[in-house]
Amino acid sequence: MSDGQYIHTRMHDRVALIRIQRDEARNALNLALMNELVDTLECLDADETVRCMVLTGGEKAFAAGADIAEMADVTAPAMKLLNQFRIWDKIRFLTKPLIAAVNGYALGGGCELAMACDMIVAGEEAKFGQPEVKIGVMPGAGGTQRLTRNVGKARALEMLLTGNAISAERAWQMGLVNRVVATDKCVDEALRLAHEIAQQAPMAVRLIKESVLKALDTDIQTGMDFERNAFYLLFATEDKSEGMKAFLERRNPVFHGR
Ligand code: CAA
Repeated sequence: MSDGQYIHTRMHDRVALIRIQRDEARNALNLALMNELVDTLECLDADETVRCMVLTGGEKAFAAGADIAEMADVTAPAMKLLNQFRIWDKIRFLTKPLIAAVNGYALGGGCELAMACDMIVAGEEAKFGQPEVKIGVMPGAGGTQRLTRNVGKARALEMLLTGNAISAERAWQMGLVNRVVATDKCVDEALRLAHEIAQQAPMAVRLIKESVLKALDTDIQTGMDFERNAFYLLFATEDKSEGMKAFLERRNPVFHGR
């Protein structure tokens, strides 16, 4: 258990539940909040006792984007020097699965944050959108890149150029989210999924995540070679021996992450 200014963490067995708490500003992602969030994620990623992570916000908002008040008077050179979105890249290098549990608004940086996670469980009232164009800018934390990869060029452009938000149901139809559940079941469902993943062999989970991320930005042969080597590497783990032995002995495996 740990409580920072904006980020609260609770352990549920081997799953970490990380909650963004800045309700009064619809969880707008100011610099201090993002620093705290990324530090927390990196600490949990390095913690051997943690197998999977769930990131959530509040009932009204997962996050309503970057903090507009904080950015309103910043000049272009200051923005470039600050390069505030560089720390977001650290989320991409987390080795453990990170599941977003999204209720309420996931707008702008909030939608980008959800997409930076590996999977998204949405509450039925959730809204996803990239409204930056409405305030005269554009996404700066991956919106044009991840949304396009996730839903395709035409649908991404419609969302990005109109700034209009879509419902959870529509997000599911477009392949942006894994599943839609009742609002009050959203975090529980994300935790359930996380617990299922937490039972698997950690090294296999890690290499599967790495291989899938590789598939997003490499040609097929490089990806196939990467996958094959990862597969062979798992033959050096005790968990591989245990997993195969348990199958042959018709019992559940007990994985130790070695
Ligand atoms: N930044 C700063 N403050 C924000 C905020 C944001 N992104 N979103 C909401 N807030 C604040 C409001 O200013 C308001 O503060 P006060 O009570 O002090 O006035 C408080 O949160 C509640 O907001 P609303 O009264 O607007 O609440 P609502 O329920 O009527 O509407 C909302 C909620 C639809 C999310 C609306 O607040 C909204 O449209 N927010 C802005 C969304 C947006 O444009 N996001 C993109 C930001 S830019 C970005 O994210 C760039 C990037 O790529 C990272």
